[in-house]
Amino acid sequence: MELNNAIFERRSIRKYKDQPVSEQQVREILWAASNAPSWTNSQPSRYFVAMDAARDAVAEMLPQFNKNNVINAPVLIVSCVKKGTSGYRKDGTAATHLDDGFLHFDNGLRVQNICLKALDMGLGTLIMGLYDEKAIREYFEIDDSLEIVCVLSVGVPADQPDARPRKSVDEIAVFKK
Ligand SMILES: Cc1cc2nc3c(=O)[nH]c(=O)nc-3n(C[C@H](O)[C@H](O)[C@H](O)COP(=O)(O)O)c2cc1C
Repeated sequence: MELNNAIFERRSIRKYKDQPVSEQQVREILWAASNAPSWTNSQPSRYFVAMDAARDAVAEMLPQFNKNNVINAPVLIVSCVKKGTSGYRKDGTAATHLDDGFLHFDNGLRVQNICLKALDMGLGTLIMGLYDEKAIREYFEIDDSLEIVCVLSVGVPADQPDARPRKSVDEIAVFKK
C-alpha cells in the first residue's frame, strides 16, 4: 500500500466482519511493530495476544462500549512496556526532562506500525485505552516489571468510517525563520 494512502485511510475500526485472522498474520503485524525506532534501541514493548477463547475472556475485561466496538474482531493484543528501559542512562538516572516519557513514546511508534501494517494486510484495528487493568494483569499473569498501556483489536473491517476532523498545520505548528 502506498504510504500516503496508509496514513490517510487508516481509521479506528469499530465494526468487524465475522472472519478469522491467523496467528501468522498477527506475527507479521508484531514484526512490523518491532521495526519501529526506540530510545537507544531499547525495544521496550511486550505483547500478550488473545485469540479464540482467550479473546472472548479479554473482551469481557473491556467496558461495555469497547466490548461493543470489538464484536467479531478475532484478535485482541495487550500492549505493554517494560518499565525503566527507555529514557534512562546506563546508571539508571533519567536522561532527559521527560523522565520515563520516552517509554510510552516508543510504544506509541510501535502501535502506529501495528495499525498501518494491519491496514496494509486488509485488516482493521482499534486502539483502546479503557480496559480493566487488574483483570488483564491477572489473566495473563503480567508481573510488575511491565506496565499495561492499551488493548488493540485486529479483524477484517466491516466499515470504513469517515475521517475524523483534524487540526490544521497552522493550529499545531509554529514556524520561525
Ligand atoms: C491512546 C488512545 C486510546 C484510545 N482509546 C479508545 C477507546 O478506549 N475506545 C475507542 O473506541 N477508541 C479509542 N481510541 C481511538 C480514538 O478515539 C481515535 O483514534 C480518534 O477518535 C481518531 O479517529 P481515527 O483513529 O479513526 O482517525 C483511542 C486512541 C488512542 C490513540
